[in-house]
Amino acid sequence: MNTPRPVLVVDFGAQYAQLIARRVREARAYSEIVPHSMPVAEMLAKDPAAIILSGGPASVYAPGAPQVDPKLFDAGVPVLGICYGFQAMARALGGTVAHTGGREYGGTTLRTRPDATVLLRDLPAELSVWMSHGDCVTEAPSGFTVTAESPGAPVAAFEDLAGRRVGTQFHPEVGHTEHGQRMLERFLYEVAGIEPTWTPENIISDQVAEIRARVGDKEVICGLSGGVDSAVAAALVHRAVGDQLTCVFVDHGLLRAGEAEQVEKDYVAATGIKLKVVDAADRFLGALAGVTDPEQKRKIIGREFIRVFEAAAREVAASGDVEFLVQGTLYPDVVESGGGTGTANIKSHHNVGGLPEDLKFSLVEPLRTLFKDEVRQLGLALGLPEEMVWRHPFPGPGLAIRIIGAVDRERLDLLRAADLIAREELTASGLDRDVWQFPVVLLADVRSVGVQGDGRSYGHPVVLRPVSSADAMTADWSRLPYDLIARISTRITNEVAEVNRVVLDVTSKPPGTIEWE
Ligand code: XMP
Repeated sequence: MNTPRPVLVVDFGAQYAQLIARRVREARAYSEIVPHSMPVAEMLAKDPAAIILSGGPASVYAPGAPQVDPKLFDAGVPVLGICYGFQAMARALGGTVAHTGGREYGGTTLRTRPDATVLLRDLPAELSVWMSHGDCVTEAPSGFTVTAESPGAPVAAFEDLAGRRVGTQFHPEVGHTEHGQRMLERFLYEVAGIEPTWTPENIISDQVAEIRARVGDKEVICGLSGGVDSAVAAALVHRAVGDQLTCVFVDHGLLRAGEAEQVEKDYVAATGIKLKVVDAADRFLGALAGVTDPEQKRKIIGREFIRVFEAAAREVAASGDVEFLVQGTLYPDVVESGGGTGTANIKSHHNVGGLPEDLKFSLVEPLRTLFKDEVRQLGLALGLPEEMVWRHPFPGPGLAIRIIGAVDRERLDLLRAADLIAREELTASGLDRDVWQFPVVLLADVRSVGVQGDGRSYGHPVVLRPVSSADAMTADWSRLPYDLIARISTRITNEVAEVNRVVLDVTSKPPGTIEWE
C-alpha cells in the first residue's frame, strides 16, 4: 500500500481541525489538515477520498469570513460539513443561513427525524450533542433532506445522498456528542466508501518502502533520548535499512531510575539496533555545578548536548557515508509550524540544532504524518518495550529542572528514589494512562522540620505534581485517590533518607506551568 488517498480536513481556524483529523485516523482512514485558503484545484490535486469542512470561529456573515468555493462541490468528492463548515456549505449550495445573533453553546438535545438515512440512521430520537454557533441554517439547499433539529437550529443536520454530501451543525468529533464517532465512521465508510486500511501494519510497510527508496545504500544516524518518538522513528528506520542505521544515546546523567538501562539493554534487545552510548554524566554535572537559574541550566544542557552529540556523530560519520539524520517529528508539530516539508528547522536542544557545515544531514522524519497515539501503536507493533511506548512526556533537560536549586549527584539520587516510588505506586494502581505526566520535584534549597524515629529531622520537601492534559498547553492537577497519595507519601518519607515531607501541587496551568522550572 502506498500512502492512501487522504481525507482532507479543511481548517477554518477553530480548535477542532486536529481533533477531527485524529478521529478520522481512529476510524483507520488517513487524514490531512489543509488551510481553508488553499485553492480548490490544489485540494483536488491531492486526490482526496473525502473532504471534511471543519468548524470555525467566524460568522459566515462577518466581513472577510472564509467562504467555501462552490467548485469544491462540482468534483464529486464526498463532503461532510461541520458547524461553520456546515453553514458555509449550505450557503455555497443555495441554502439559507440566518444571522440570528443568538447563540447555542455546549450540550444540547438533538431531535433526529425518523427518515434519516445515513449519519443518524437508527439512533435514538433524542441525542445529546455538542454545539457552538451563533448563526443557523434555516433552509437546506435544494436536494438535501433535513435529518435533525435542535432548540437553536431548525436545520441541525442534512443529507444529500445522491450527491454524497452531508452536514451537521453540531460537532460529531467531540466526546460529548453521543454516537459522534459512529456518525463520522458512517460518513467515511458508507457515504465516501472508504476502506479502513490505515492500520499500524500498513503504516509500517508503507514507511519501510519509502525509507528504503530514499536512503538507498547510504548510512543513517539517529539520536535516542529515551522517549517514545525517537525510539519509534529509529525502530522504523532500522526495519527499513538495518545496520545502515547507527543510534547515538547521550546519557547526560539526568534521566530517571532505569531509563538509561531501558535504552541500552531492553531497546537494543527488542530491535537489534546498533547503538553508540556516550556516558557524559560527569561532563554535564561538571558544567551544571552550582547553577541555580532554570534558564541557565537549560542553556548549559543544550550546549553540552550539541557538543557531545556532534563528537559522536563525527565518529560515526568517519567510519561510513552518513547522509541522513532521523528525527521523531510528529504531525501536530508539522501542522503548528505551517506544514512545509523536509527542511531542517530544529528547535529544542535535545535535537541537534547547531551542527557545523561539514556535518549537514538530510532529515528522515518517518513520523511526520502521525499523531502521538498512532506512534504508540506503531511502537507496540514494532515490538518495543511497553514501558518505553507508554512513557509519559519527559523534558529534555531531565531531572535538572526538577531540582529547585543546584544539581549534584546526591540530589539526583534522592530525587530518582522519590520519583521511582511515585511511578511504581501510580503503575500499581493502574492509573498510568489517566495522567499526562507526574513530575516529582525536589525542593533542594528548602528544609523543613520533621519528627522521624525518636528525633527531630531537618530534611527536604518533595512535591508531587500529577497533571491531566491533552497537549501540555493547558493542564489541570490530577485528582488522584487520596489513598494512593498517602502510600506514595509514606513510602517516600520512609525509604528516602533526607526527605521528611511530601506535598501535593494543586495548581492548574495556567497560572502554573507543569514543570516547576
Ligand atoms: P511547562 O512546564 O512549560 O511544560 O508547562 C510543558 C511541557 O513541556 C515539557 N518541558 C520541556 N521539554 N525541554 C523539553 O524537551 C524543556 O526545556 C522543557 N521544559 C518543559 C514539560 O515536561 C511538559 O511536558
